[in-house]
Amino acid sequence: MSDRRPLVSGNWKMHLTHLEAIQVVQKLSYALDRGPQGEVEVSVHPAFTALRSVQTVLDADEIPVALGAQDVHWEDKGAWTGEVSPTMLAKLNVRYVIVGHSERRQHLGETDEWVNRKLRATLRAGMTPICCVGETAAQRDAGETRDHVVGQLHAALEGVDAAAVAGVVVAYEPVWAIGTGRTATPEDAQAVCAALRAAVGERWGADAAAGVRIQYGGSVNEANAADLLGQADVDGALVGGASLDPVAFAAVVAAA
Ligand code: G3P
Repeated sequence: MSDRRPLVSGNWKMHLTHLEAIQVVQKLSYALDRGPQGEVEVSVHPAFTALRSVQTVLDADEIPVALGAQDVHWEDKGAWTGEVSPTMLAKLNVRYVIVGHSERRQHLGETDEWVNRKLRATLRAGMTPICCVGETAAQRDAGETRDHVVGQLHAALEGVDAAAVAGVVVAYEPVWAIGTGRTATPEDAQAVCAALRAAVGERWGADAAAGVRIQYGGSVNEANAADLLGQADVDGALVGGASLDPVAFAAVVAAA
């Protein structure tokens, strides 16, 4: 049993207006029964337009849920139309920032270099990155999973020192499991998360390997969460669709 605190994160993607988000987070507050207070850390990641509303509710109602963002730019200000800076997120008490989600890599041209810049900017602003890595079905079928995700990890963490790496969160999300209802088997998820942890240890040392939290993401729900989150090197989950339902998301948290 590790002493890493599990983190279960809800990535709401492009769902929920700020009014709907307020309702979901209030219902989540009632649905959460996490055993001893603070045993499992929870974060929710609304769309940018709902961040301020959700932060206000979390603070006003003292809900023990961390505020997260789904992306960030690497510059603090400038002529970057449509982008949001690390400082702007930090001012809203954002604690976690997803970087390198496969949907951004696949459809929005996000490169390994961008992910590295965003990850380092997130750290500079005092927030914690959740760095997404994951293989496609073709890469899995070709036996390239480990090499691919370790390559993404190395690129994302380039230039980051060992102490900072120990505080980073990595989310292993097989692309073929996202939104499909199919998940990796607990054994496969464990094997890849263990390989990611070993890769951290080889490059950044044992303390970084022991400290880095590695989530699994890809069709996590209340039915499969316990088996996935019960794996030695799986330190939580990055949940998409099931996180939009407060009761279902709370059930995933309870399974952690
Ligand atoms: O970031 C989490 C997300 O990609 C997983 O989505 O709907 O398969 O849980 P989903």
